[in-house]
Amino acid sequence: MKNEKLCYLVTLLLSAVFVFGFSNGGDTPPKIEKEPALLLDTPFDKMMAVLMHKRCVNCHPSGDTPRQGEDSHLHNFGVVRGEDGHGLAGYSCNTCHGEENNDYSGVPGAPHWAVAPAGMAWEGKSRIEIAQQMMDPARNGGRSHHEIEEHLTEHELVLWAWEPGIDAEGNEREKPPVPKDEYIQAVREWIKSGTNIPNE
Ligand code: HEC
Ligand code: HEC
Repeated sequence: MKNEKLCYLVTLLLSAVFVFGFSNGGDTPPKIEKEPALLLDTPFDKMMAVLMHKRCVNCHPSGDTPRQGEDSHLHNFGVVRGEDGHGLAGYSCNTCHGEENNDYSGVPGAPHWAVAPAGMAWEGKSRIEIAQQMMDPARNGGRSHHEIEEHLTEHELVLWAWEPGIDAEGNEREKPPVPKDEYIQAVREWIKSGTNIPNE
């Protein structure tokens, strides 16, 4: 009798392991290219250290689903980009995301909350690839250097990264590795000096 019970329990446990072990199908961790050590020497280094950070990359995913959290897991609740990046009709981002962070529910917020277009995906790309794509009007939404500078230094979704709020577990989200003013300065210097992208 005792053995039978034990056997039953073991079977239950094994099926639980099986179900949970295989149930997150498709959520392979994003391949965010890690520099061996974070380079912060030149204006380009500082700018790219920010762009490669998860606060940006989570919303510039390679697939149809944004990512969340410090481990950049796929967004919960079956959220997808939809036609215009604002989610599906009747289930858009602003069903949950407001114009500012909600630190009680842990839902981050800023005006125009939406996932970046597929053509502006950064996940899995090197910093060189991201910089080239960002400066290429065919791939950056037809933006001039000046418009890129404005977007990088003024856009609400960009600046949100330095006020990312508190997550659903009550922990403060990590900020990008360069302070906001220093980053803005670096972007301006890099653009002013001719947007040189090193070949690595
Ligand atoms: C059903 C509610 C809901 C909907 C709809 C929703 N989100 Fe979220 N989202 C959340 C919650 C809750 C979190 C916070 C999870 C946490 O950090 O603990 C979150 C977090 C995020 C984050 C993570 C920020 C970070 O860097 O950690 C991104 C990016 C995001 N959402 C994008 C979107 C986009 C884009 C859409 C629409 C296409 C969307 N979400 C639709 C509830 C929602
Ligand atoms: C909540 C989602 C979200 C977050 C967070 C976010 N972006 Fe974006 N990003 C977008 C959307 C949506 C667009 C497209 C907007 C448009 O074209 O007007 C975009 C476009 C861009 C563009 C313009 C074109 C291009 O080359 O990709 C740049 C540059 C950019 N984002 C930089 C950043 C940086 C830097 C960060 C982090 C500091 C960041 N973004 C964080 C959603 C986000």
